[in-house]
Amino acid sequence: MKRKTIVAANWKMNGDLAFVDSITSRLNTLQLTENVDVILFPSYPYLPILNEKISNNNIAVGGQNISTHYKGAFTGEVSAYMLSNLGINYVIVGHSERRFIYGETTEEIAIKAKLACDSGLKPIICIGETEEERISGETEKSLTAQLLPVIDALGIEKFSDVVISYEPVWAIGTGKTASPELAQNTHQFIRSLLAQFDVDIAQAIHILYGGSVNSANCEKLFAQPDIDGGLIGGAGLNVDEFINICSTAKGT
Ligand code: PGA
Repeated sequence: MKRKTIVAANWKMNGDLAFVDSITSRLNTLQLTENVDVILFPSYPYLPILNEKISNNNIAVGGQNISTHYKGAFTGEVSAYMLSNLGINYVIVGHSERRFIYGETTEEIAIKAKLACDSGLKPIICIGETEEERISGETEKSLTAQLLPVIDALGIEKFSDVVISYEPVWAIGTGKTASPELAQNTHQFIRSLLAQFDVDIAQAIHILYGGSVNSANCEKLFAQPDIDGGLIGGAGLNVDEFINICSTAKGT
């Protein structure tokens, strides 16, 4: 089955107005084929500004995180509703930095994914194993444990409006990219896990790879049959590098 390629950039807590200007001026004139979607995830203060400045129809913006609550007295939090109220369509949930630095649990991530879907947002749900889990042969067990509670909370039908990003924790920001074969095998496992619930949804869902993707390794990764694009951190902060990745995706 043919699926579009998604190139997503998670800026994390980086970037400023000058970066917003420089990247939008380049991306707005970038020719992307219909088969490629680009999504930028800036920090919250820049999100409406970036959304306004992006005029390329193939490029969307999204939030990096949302609250587990719908609304109320939760100082510092941003709700799923607020994003959809701004006309935003995407949000990242369950990034490993949220899991490990802020102690977010799989249950909280499932709640966030459900709130996102209920508010009309597409969650990009990140899952990935640690280095210890990979070494001890527990990758599949770990990924299953991260995914099942979300399937439980959302119901498998909602996965037609979900993107999954497989991000081995040992590959994030380390320069240690998973080999295309290892990533492909793991993506295939994730798709087969979903197929146990619904074959059509498993075939249609986008599964991105994240973890030290750059312009030198993205071509082989994106060429794998079960890899539908990338969630890019560091390389998304370098305009030339990111444009190269988007252009490579154009060719696949
Ligand atoms: P990286 O980050 O590309 O810098 O490894 C990926 C991510 O955190 O999504």
